[in-house]
Amino acid sequence: MAKNIRETLLGTLEHGQEIMENIRVMRAVSGDKIPTSSVAKPSEAIHRRELKLVVQSVMDTGRQAKIFRFVSEDGYLPPFEAGQYINLFTQIGGVRTSRPYSISSSPRQRAYYEITVARTKDGFVSDYLLDQVKAGDRFTANGPAGVFRYQPVFHSKKSLFLAGGSGITPMLSMTREILEAGLDRDVVLLYGCRSPEAALYHEELTAYAAAFPNFRYHLVVSDPVEGWDGEKGFLDETLIRRLAPDFAERTSYICGPQVMNDFCKSALEAMGVPEKKIRREMFGARRDIQNEPGWPKELTGDEVFTITVGERKLPAKSGESVLTALERAGVRVNVCCRSGECSLCRVRLVSGDVFLARGMLRRYADEKYGYIHSCKAYPMGDIEIML
Ligand SMILES: Cc1cc2nc3c(=O)[nH]c(=O)nc-3n(C[C@H](O)[C@H](O)[C@H](O)COP(=O)(O)OP(=O)(O)OC[C@H]3O[C@@H](n4cnc5c(N)ncnc54)[C@H](O)[C@@H]3O)c2cc1C
Ligand code: FES
Repeated sequence: MAKNIRETLLGTLEHGQEIMENIRVMRAVSGDKIPTSSVAKPSEAIHRRELKLVVQSVMDTGRQAKIFRFVSEDGYLPPFEAGQYINLFTQIGGVRTSRPYSISSSPRQRAYYEITVARTKDGFVSDYLLDQVKAGDRFTANGPAGVFRYQPVFHSKKSLFLAGGSGITPMLSMTREILEAGLDRDVVLLYGCRSPEAALYHEELTAYAAAFPNFRYHLVVSDPVEGWDGEKGFLDETLIRRLAPDFAERTSYICGPQVMNDFCKSALEAMGVPEKKIRREMFGARRDIQNEPGWPKELTGDEVFTITVGERKLPAKSGESVLTALERAGVRVNVCCRSGECSLCRVRLVSGDVFLARGMLRRYADEKYGYIHSCKAYPMGDIEIML
C-alpha cells in the first residue's frame, strides 16, 4: 500500500518515472561493495563528529599532486555522497588548522577514502601534506560533508561538469559512481588545465569516455605546448555551446579556482542557464582577497589589526580571515567547510568592522544578532569578538 502511495506521488512529479528508476538502480547496486569491516554497528552514529584516519598509502601522480588513501583507525568510515569532502586537521609548526579535501574515490566502497592534493603556490597545509606526510601517519577529520552532489529529485539526469585544476576531484568521484553503478545519467565533463601535463586523472577519464557512451570528456588546455591537438582555450560560452550543445537540458556543476568558477558561472548565465541549474563548489577562501568585489580600497591586506577575544588580544592581518588569525594564536574554533557554508565557525562580532567575502550562507538570525562566519570575515580595523 505504502509503495503504491509513493509511486502515485512520484507519478505526479515531472521526473517521477526517472526518480523511480534511479531508486530502483540504487537499490539494485547499493551495499554490494561495502566490506564487512566498514558496516556501522547499531550503536554507532552514522555521521560521527571526528574521524580517526591513518594514511595507508601516498601515491605521487607525477603531476604536482599526490593521492592520499586513508583507512579508518577503528575500522569504520561513514558513507558519503559523491562530491562531498572531508575536513582534515593538521598540526603544523604548533598551529592547529584544517583544510577540506573532496573525496576523489567512489562512494561505492568504504574500505578507504582517497583525496588528491595539488601543489599550490606558497601553500601551507598542501605543502605539508605533499612534502612530509607518509604512510602510517595519523589524522583526525570531520565530515563527510558538503552539498556539491547530485540530487536525483532536483537535478537533471543530464549533467555538465566544468572542472578546473584540482577541482576535478569531486567530479571524479561522481563519474566513478555513475559509471561503476551503471546509473542512467549522461555526463559531459569539460576539464580546464594549463597544460596536458597538469591534468589529473586524464588517462582514467579518457578510458572512461572510450568505454561509456553516457560519458564524454574533453581536456581543455589554456597554455598548450606545440603538438597539442586537443581542445584549447578556456571553458567559455563558445566552447560550452560546441561541446555540450544540449547544455540547457543539463544541471551544471562547477568546481575549481575562484576565477575559473566565476568565469564559468558568468558564461552559463549569459547562455540563459537559470541559477537553480548551476551548482558550485568553492575550493576555499581566495588567496587574493584584495581582488574580491567590494574589498575596501584603502586596505592592502598587510595591515595588522587587533582581535580582542575575552582577555586576549591577538594580531590579525587584514588579508587573512579571522579564522586564520584565531588558529595562528591557538584559539580553537569549530570548523568544517572553510567556505562560508556550514556555519560551524560562527563568532559574534561585538565591535569593529569586517569585510565579508562572497559565498557566506548567513542565516537571518545570525545577521540580526551580529554573528559572522570567521572563515569568510576579514578585519578592517581592530575588532572584538565573542566565541
Ligand atoms: C570543499 C573543498 C574541497 C577541496 N578539495 C580539494 C581537493 O580535492 N584537492 C586540493 O588540492 N584542494 C582542495 N581544496 C582546497 C584545499 O582545502 C586547500 O585550500 C589547498 O590544499 C591549499 O591549502 P594551503 O593551506 O596550502 O593554502 P591555503 O588554503 O591558500 O592557505 C594558505 C593560507 O594559510 C595561512 N597560513 C600560512 N601560514 C600559516 C601559519 N604559519 N599559521 C597559520 N596559518 C597560516 C595563510 O592565511 C595563507 O594565506 C578544497 C577546498 C574546499 C573548500
Ligand atoms: S567553516 Fe564552514 S562556514 Fe566557516
